[in-house]
Amino acid sequence: MEYKIIIFGGGGVGKSSLCIRLTMNKFVSVYDPTIEDVYRTQLTVDNTACYLDITDTAGQEDITGMRDKYITDGEAFVLVYAVDSRPSFDEIKILHNQIKTQKEKNVPIIICANKDDLEPSAHHVKSQEGKDLAKDLNCLFIETSAKTGKNVTDSFSQLVREIRST
Ligand code: GTP
Ligand code: MG
Repeated sequence: MEYKIIIFGGGGVGKSSLCIRLTMNKFVSVYDPTIEDVYRTQLTVDNTACYLDITDTAGQEDITGMRDKYITDGEAFVLVYAVDSRPSFDEIKILHNQIKTQKEKNVPIIICANKDDLEPSAHHVKSQEGKDLAKDLNCLFIETSAKTGKNVTDSFSQLVREIRST
């Protein structure tokens, strides 16, 4: 099976870094804003292999016009915020709302609280706030770090499980 996944979130939250960690198992600290990239990789979840076709979108560029098309094309979504950015957290609701408005059926969504490796004093969004939001929106939630690799594969595995069960 192949699953088409779209990754959304504000500029610089770590969308590309999560894709690079998942597919190449490395971390790049230089920030290079994305226009659009596609990552393809194989993932084995519960002893069953699948292919992921991940569209990495631009957080910086004005993609509001593009977003409709991404949502139409995607069968599951990763919404990323960075724990050191309140605006990126606020953006999650907007993205979620846009997906829900456009997709009639229940669509698998995971919210990633990325940059979890940052020291506690840099965490401007509390873990509990992320959990509460995910519960409210009826989405999966996971704390990730593209830098250390924490929960990166796991976030995509959880999303695949959700796709398979819907
Ligand atoms: P756009 O393409 O502009 O939307 O940004 P993006 O969401 O793809 O962010 P990107 O992956 O380019 O990362 C932005 C910056 O944050 C880079 O300097 C990364 O090295 C850094 N970064 C990404 N993920 C993490 C993380 O988990 N921890 C830390 N400490 N830094 C991270
Ligand atoms: Mg990017």
